[in-house]
Amino acid sequence: MRSVDYNQWHLPVLLNEVIEHLSIRPDGLYIDLTVGGGGHSAKILQKLGSGGRLLAADRDPEALAVSSERLKCIETKAAFDVVEAKFSEFPSWLDQEDYGRVDGLLADLGVSSYQLDAVERGFSYLNDGPLDMRMNPSQKESAADLIANLRESDLIALLRLYGEEQYAYSIAKSIVAKRDKAPITTTGELADIVAHAVPSHARREGNPARKTFQAVRMAVNHEQEELSHLLQALPDVMAPKGRVAIISFHSLEDRMVKQAMKRWESPCNCPRDFPVCVCGKKPLGKCITSKPIIAGEAECEGNRRARSAKLRVFEFGEVEEV
Ligand SMILES: C[S@@+](CC[C@H](N)C(=O)[O-])C[C@H]1O[C@@H](n2cnc3c(N)ncnc32)[C@H](O)[C@@H]1O
Repeated sequence: MRSVDYNQWHLPVLLNEVIEHLSIRPDGLYIDLTVGGGGHSAKILQKLGSGGRLLAADRDPEALAVSSERLKCIETKAAFDVVEAKFSEFPSWLDQEDYGRVDGLLADLGVSSYQLDAVERGFSYLNDGPLDMRMNPSQKESAADLIANLRESDLIALLRLYGEEQYAYSIAKSIVAKRDKAPITTTGELADIVAHAVPSHARREGNPARKTFQAVRMAVNHEQEELSHLLQALPDVMAPKGRVAIISFHSLEDRMVKQAMKRWESPCNCPRDFPVCVCGKKPLGKCITSKPIIAGEAECEGNRRARSAKLRVFEFGEVEEV
């Protein structure tokens, strides 16, 4: 394989913070569900020793090829394996005997810099490539299919929800008008449609296509549904004292993570006016980041992606009553 500059490929965000908060036991079992270029996984593997195991997964086969080469070069007594899987397939690929034994798990959501920069993957509004955006190219529906088939009202809703796009209405109208004449098949075409659909002052405030591309990407890859599935699945696999670290880049996702951690912390669903709990649901653990951890100035300067990153960490296991 050609030599890869991994930091060019993707610079991991909040690396030290993730490693510190996972509080890695050398002989523990760790899972990285978004291995990407392997930045976080490489550090985890370096911390593991004899008896330690790392399972590194991603839905993108290209990311797995790069990261497994990287992980192979790390001197370690620990074992590692890579798995092509998406969140919605977790934990079906995990050995039954590992259920309840996971000491740490990381999900670093969204896309890697490589995915964004690779023109042929069709994620970028800065370069003209096929309108694709599939994190796994074997998936059926691409961004071009989505743009061709969504009803106008659904397109507006999607741009508002996932893109927080204030000009969703006029962008969706322009998309529909264009696709009625000819299919929209390239990222350049879509970026151009958006640029013409927004008022001129919006074009001066950064690239106007950014939010549309984010929204379409999230829809193509069912990112919200994927995260929702993962958050449901996690409590079944974590060991006592096992820690889950999730990095999100979108307010909607951060809210989902925060709410899930709140539910895990206080699952009791008795009516508020009940004097005592009768549902019997006990806390599954505690959130150890009362506020999300964000990147410092220096990291943000060296890595634009870090600016919107939010890390939340939850520790499973019995909570001592105070
Ligand atoms: C931000 S990058 C991870 C970068 C990685 N932590 C590193 O240090 O290089 C996100 C990765 O998660 C993967 N991904 C996103 N959603 C996923 C999902 N639902 N299931 C599996 N992998 C997913 C993407 O393919 C991408 O490679």
